[in-house]
Amino acid sequence: MNCLAPRRRRGGAWVASLRRRYPQVDPGAAGLMHQALLPCPPEATVNEALRLITRRHLRLLAARSRNLAGVILPADLRRARALSLGARRAWDVARWGIPVVTPRAAEVTVRRHLFEGAAAVLVREGRRVVGAVEPSIPTVGRPALSLLPRLERQLPAETRGLLRRIGGIGESMGCKVYAVGGFVRDLLLGRQAAELDIVVEGDGLAVARRLASELGGTLVVHATFGTATLEGGGALRIDVATARQEHYRLPGALPEVTPASVAEDLRRRDFSINAMAMVLSATGFGDLLDPVRGASDLARRRIRILHPLSFVEDPTRMFRAIRYQTRLGFALDRGSLGALRFAIDVAPYPALSGQRLTAELELIVAEEPTGPRSLITLGRLGAFTILDPSYRFSPRAARKVIDLGRLRHRLSDHGIALDPLPLGLLALVGHLSQEAAERCLRRLAVSGEPLSRLTGALREGPVLAQRLTKARAAPPSVRAAYLRGRSLESLGGAWLAGGESARRQVEWFLAHGRTVQTLLGGDDLLALGVTRGPSIRQLLDRLRDCRLDGVAVTREQELALVHQWIGPGNRAEAQCG
Ligand code: CTP
Repeated sequence: MNCLAPRRRRGGAWVASLRRRYPQVDPGAAGLMHQALLPCPPEATVNEALRLITRRHLRLLAARSRNLAGVILPADLRRARALSLGARRAWDVARWGIPVVTPRAAEVTVRRHLFEGAAAVLVREGRRVVGAVEPSIPTVGRPALSLLPRLERQLPAETRGLLRRIGGIGESMGCKVYAVGGFVRDLLLGRQAAELDIVVEGDGLAVARRLASELGGTLVVHATFGTATLEGGGALRIDVATARQEHYRLPGALPEVTPASVAEDLRRRDFSINAMAMVLSATGFGDLLDPVRGASDLARRRIRILHPLSFVEDPTRMFRAIRYQTRLGFALDRGSLGALRFAIDVAPYPALSGQRLTAELELIVAEEPTGPRSLITLGRLGAFTILDPSYRFSPRAARKVIDLGRLRHRLSDHGIALDPLPLGLLALVGHLSQEAAERCLRRLAVSGEPLSRLTGALREGPVLAQRLTKARAAPPSVRAAYLRGRSLESLGGAWLAGGESARRQVEWFLAHGRTVQTLLGGDDLLALGVTRGPSIRQLLDRLRDCRLDGVAVTREQELALVHQWIGPGNRAEAQCG
């Protein structure tokens, strides 16, 4: 008889009879747990918690905040101490949202929690935590999910061919090759990735060079990190890296890297949804590797970091987290949000380079249609204190950031493309004092000419906006005179600082006013008898203003004006302006 045949209609009786015949030995949570834990006092520091763990031979500490249970792991405490955070509260490096069960909970329940990525399961008797189960008990491995059907459905044959070819090239060199990060994430989301991140178990640079020689294109090698970028070898940009582990010595500093397995490489990444890989080698082509349950987080639409100090080690991940959150309509899970707030509290990050910060801001401002929303979320969270401790995000700054999106739309309607980064920076720091704004810009490694254009824009923008508002009834040539010769940053600054009327005038100037040309040229004026020299420029400028004001529209009208200006009685006056 097939015992598994569906005989549920007889319900409980059937299950009970099976249990009598095959008595289940379910150790329950009580049988799986260890008791090497103690509650961590809320005020204990990282150093004190570590001492407690060592003295009492504990495996973890438990924490409870309102209705949220957490565990504090020795590895996280050691990581915090190594990052010079020994005097911070141990609770700040807790992993929150830990499932709590009773000692009688079934083994399968406990295993399911661990399988879903819980760092531990706490066992509670009444109000007391009596034990914990950690993922060291072997969890049932799920067979690798194959992404082949998705590849067939979503990717053009050319890209599929490229993926197989890359896998084959790696294999011929004795290396296993994987697609990782955004490519796999976007494949699972049904989106098209613009670039392909490849990880090689072996010599990534050798594989990159071989790819370049077989696929063509330009290869740029970054030897320090064992990474290389191949562009022009196919429709996608290909980033190749050796699988690696990272070790951070200082908060925000670049990590030291050592070669590692792909599983270790995935565990050093920013978020679970970016920590999946797909096999490209022929054996297992298309298989998904998902050691930190990224696919389940994709399904739950959540952004989850892989350890509580992820944002402190690499603060650019704060910007990345919010960028993904807004782009994908996901949310940070509670633990990750707490970790992000903690990382903001740890700022400033002297070892974090301004260039890296700027690069992240640029991705938000220039690449993401939802960029302004990300900036507002970051501002409200207080993330920009990383630029300067005095930075406060105000409703005024939020309005400017929203306006930034409008400005870009309005300008692109006129076919004008302004560099989005300087405008974004103006919107972010425009409400601060000149000194604080300049400190923020310097922190972002803005220097030299770009810095003086931006600080100039911060000074001039509001003044220009005011003048334009006052002069709204003046002839166009007068208004254009205010704006001519100013940097694009100053014009953007005037737009951001101004009301509707000033904004309309800046848009008009950018789209039309600044390009208006006279129909007559210098040679025409020379032919009319004007002496070579500065008076040519002055006459042309006067003509241009007449065009702007609609006084001279045709060549004949311009000629008539010049004749009038340089006529016998007026020649001397015209020629000296
Ligand atoms: N990564 C990381 N920490 C960072 C930057 C990147 O762990 N500070 C890892 C992530 O796994 C990420 C991968 O490197 O997926 C590649 O980074 P990137 O190219 O910046 O992002 P994509 O994943 O390609 O995502 P997108 O370009 O869509 O933003």
